[in-house]
Amino acid sequence: MDLNGKVAIVTGGKRGIGKAISKMLLKEGVNLAICSKNEEDLDLVEKELKIVANNPPLCRAVDIRNGTAVSSFIQDVYHFFGKIDILINNAATIRTGLLEEMTEEDWELLIDTNLKGPFLTMKYVIPYMKQNSSGLIINICSGLSKTAYPNFSIHCASKFGLRGMSLAVKEELKKDNIQIMILNPSSVDTDIWNYIEGDYNHKKMVSSDEVAASVLFMLKNSTNCTIDELDIAPKQGIVLR
Ligand SMILES: NC(=O)c1ccc[n+]([C@@H]2O[C@H](COP(=O)([O-])OP(=O)(O)OC[C@H]3O[C@@H](n4cnc5c(N)ncnc54)[C@H](OP(=O)(O)O)[C@@H]3O)[C@@H](O)[C@H]2O)c1
Repeated sequence: MDLNGKVAIVTGGKRGIGKAISKMLLKEGVNLAICSKNEEDLDLVEKELKIVANNPPLCRAVDIRNGTAVSSFIQDVYHFFGKIDILINNAATIRTGLLEEMTEEDWELLIDTNLKGPFLTMKYVIPYMKQNSSGLIINICSGLSKTAYPNFSIHCASKFGLRGMSLAVKEELKKDNIQIMILNPSSVDTDIWNYIEGDYNHKKMVSSDEVAASVLFMLKNSTNCTIDELDIAPKQGIVLR
């Protein structure tokens, strides 16, 4: 796919992997809309993204757990840019611990952010893609979408769920020329590790730029073929102590 002039939405584009993907897309000439949960520092990130390329991004604080907010954001993106070609479902959060120590609030936070959020963004983006008879959605799942790991039970539930939902929607959308791809990163050096207990070697982790390069590879190789799923992890393995 030639990305120049395409319109993309990146959820959680303010930090970490989402910010690296956003910069990469802008450099490719994409018209970009990003959202993050909090308003804080969004103006600074907007300024930072504006100097990457000549196509200034639309930056909004939108909680992807809230259907009304997601629907209104996606309508705004459509009316601003006139179409929506690409959706990168990147925003997520994490809490860890033994299952019996986890709270109902932890459950609601993780399932609503990591699973309901992508459900809502896809629900409201797909009709615009159908109208255009084309679209590409990349759902950022995780190594923990396929491999269980102790202390990550609710996170695994949310990410296994997102992977399952992605595979089912992929089948629904084949006839509409809308592709769903799954990217499973593991151990990427971002702020998300502030919520994970344990001693991890951040120097051996994958960088956000390496994940963004994988997203670019998936997007570029989507004209005549589709990449169902891509795993990216440190050479030494999924989780490093
Ligand atoms: N880092 C890793 O090792 C790793 C491994 C496997 C998979 N992943 C996946 O990669 C993706 C990005 O992770 P990351 O490490 O870059 O995370 P991060 O640095 O913690 O950034 C998460 C982003 O998501 C946004 N976000 C969180 N909750 C949201 C909500 N309810 N509504 C809207 N936006 C919300 C945050 O907004 P604010 O900036 O406003 O807080 C932030 O911009 C996630 O899907 C994660 O599960 C990461």
